[in-house]
Amino acid sequence: MLIAGNWKLFKGPREAREFCGALAAAVDTSGIEVAVCPPFVSLAAALEGVRGSAVQVFAQSVHWAETGAFTGEVSAAMLAEVGVAGAIVGHSERRQYFGETDETVARRSEAALAAGLRVIACVGETLAERDGSRVEEVLRRQTAAIADAVGPHANLVVAYEPVWAIGTGRTASPEQAQEAHAIIRDILDVPILYGGSVKAENAPVLLAQPDVDGALVGGAALEVTSFAGICAAARAVA
Ligand code: 13P
Repeated sequence: MLIAGNWKLFKGPREAREFCGALAAAVDTSGIEVAVCPPFVSLAAALEGVRGSAVQVFAQSVHWAETGAFTGEVSAAMLAEVGVAGAIVGHSERRQYFGETDETVARRSEAALAAGLRVIACVGETLAERDGSRVEEVLRRQTAAIADAVGPHANLVVAYEPVWAIGTGRTASPEQAQEAHAIIRDILDVPILYGGSVKAENAPVLLAQPDVDGALVGGAALEVTSFAGICAAARAVA
């Protein structure tokens, strides 16, 4: 069971260090894995904050090239040098706003895994796709792109994040999450996280689904109390 907090565009270095110190003191990691995913500039500070604890630090993206003319990007080797454990790849916000495609998600995943990083690769349908009964088709296409590139790699985790549930307060029902996770697992048998308005209150029922192996948390990961509450819910079902 992995509980990862995706901070998105929140928390600079000072806040990251303080938050991680407080989180490390508040969270019980026995039997589960806990990770935070700060913005690039806050990674080193977050690593200082979690030092001495089992809380891991992941980046929010990673480029496929080792070096080169790729303004604004960061390579897997650079992240490994800083000391992070892994990276999120292909979050729907990157697909939506920054032109990420199934192909770039596959390339980024491949490079990160080759460099020894762990990868949380994100998939998930939009509301229009769900309303158009295209959930299975979309999940199969997105997951197959990752599977074709890297297969069921030991350092790979997939996150199912229905776009309509992100930041909306609207979660997938436990049945919808389980159904989607089963489709993903049919193609790629790796741990699968659920993401989309996960809170301490709804975490127990979501995490209790047989094919839900953890959570990728946005808003509720920005406060120590709520994030630690989700981690406690994970420990209860782990
Ligand atoms: P929320 O938990 O804020 O809905 O965000 C989910 C998410 O996008 C995590 O990556």
